[in-house]
Amino acid sequence: MMTMELREKNILNDAFDSFAVVSNSLETRYKSLEDQVERLSLELSEKNKFMERTRRLVAMGEMGAKIAHEIRNPLASIGIFSSLLERELSEDGKNRELAGHISKGVKTLDNLLTNMLLFARSPQPSSVAIDIKSILEGTLLLLDPQKAEKVIIERDYVGETCIKGDSSLLGQAFFNLLINAVDAVGAEGTVTIKTCLHENGSTNMKVTIEDTGDGITQDHIDRIFDPFFTTKDHGTGLGLSIVESIIKAHGGHLEVESYHDDSGKLERPGTIFTVILPVDQTEAFDE
Ligand SMILES: Nc1ncnc2c1ncn2[C@@H]1O[C@H](COP(=O)(O)OP(=O)(O)OP(=O)(O)O)[C@@H](O)[C@H]1O
Ligand SMILES: [Mg+2]
Repeated sequence: MMTMELREKNILNDAFDSFAVVSNSLETRYKSLEDQVERLSLELSEKNKFMERTRRLVAMGEMGAKIAHEIRNPLASIGIFSSLLERELSEDGKNRELAGHISKGVKTLDNLLTNMLLFARSPQPSSVAIDIKSILEGTLLLLDPQKAEKVIIERDYVGETCIKGDSSLLGQAFFNLLINAVDAVGAEGTVTIKTCLHENGSTNMKVTIEDTGDGITQDHIDRIFDPFFTTKDHGTGLGLSIVESIIKAHGGHLEVESYHDDSGKLERPGTIFTVILPVDQTEAFDE
């Protein structure tokens, strides 16, 4: 009888022990589930905030593109009238200079608007026969004469310069690269533009824009293609990201090589941007 009671007691004790173990493990799992739910709710609320911000940014981007588009037409008229005014005042040095400031401001604004519009919508290049040499020459005429006249521009166009592409988009890309080169050179120095055909499995046009400016520091070089990265007081930091997207849209690529000199030991600091463009971008995409 006694042994029977003892056995039942042991069974009951074992049952209590097992219950306690199971209950402990359930409690631990409940706690970890609770933590997980808390973490997921936090992640969800962060993601919701991020989505809301993204929605606002997209709306702002669309609004910016619309405003930029609307500003362009009146700006073009101001540009035409200011150059007429400059011509009209050709005898009146002081006032001609003032009218020149208007034209210069219009060009800067127009470039800013073009970059903004290109940033808002990815470039869709046409593919027609174009001459890289005349695009580069046309672009050089658009540079701010006050800045560009201090800089020596050297050209080295070797052989064929005709390819298939979009002249207005490539003009904008070269313009952004040339403005940067002229800005980097500052008071005095040289910007060298070279073109040549380059064989690498297929035929490419290689355009290099080289300047004798201060170069780009090691900690900046990885960021220069990021939209909005700028080291200039009045820069938007959109220039190079637009250049990159235009060149990529043509099936080409962009490279940078830069020597920055803090120690004054380098013989010649400066920067070289190399643009590689397939001679016929449609063939490059067909491959
Ligand atoms: N040729 C160059 N020499 C030295 N630094 C350069 C050169 N080109 C670009 N950079 C650096 O890269 C940064 C980004 O250039 P990017 O053209 O994108 O913008 P930005 O010139 O600053 O502004 P924006 O093009 O809107 O006027 C520049 O601020 C500058 O620091
Ligand atoms: Mg720039």
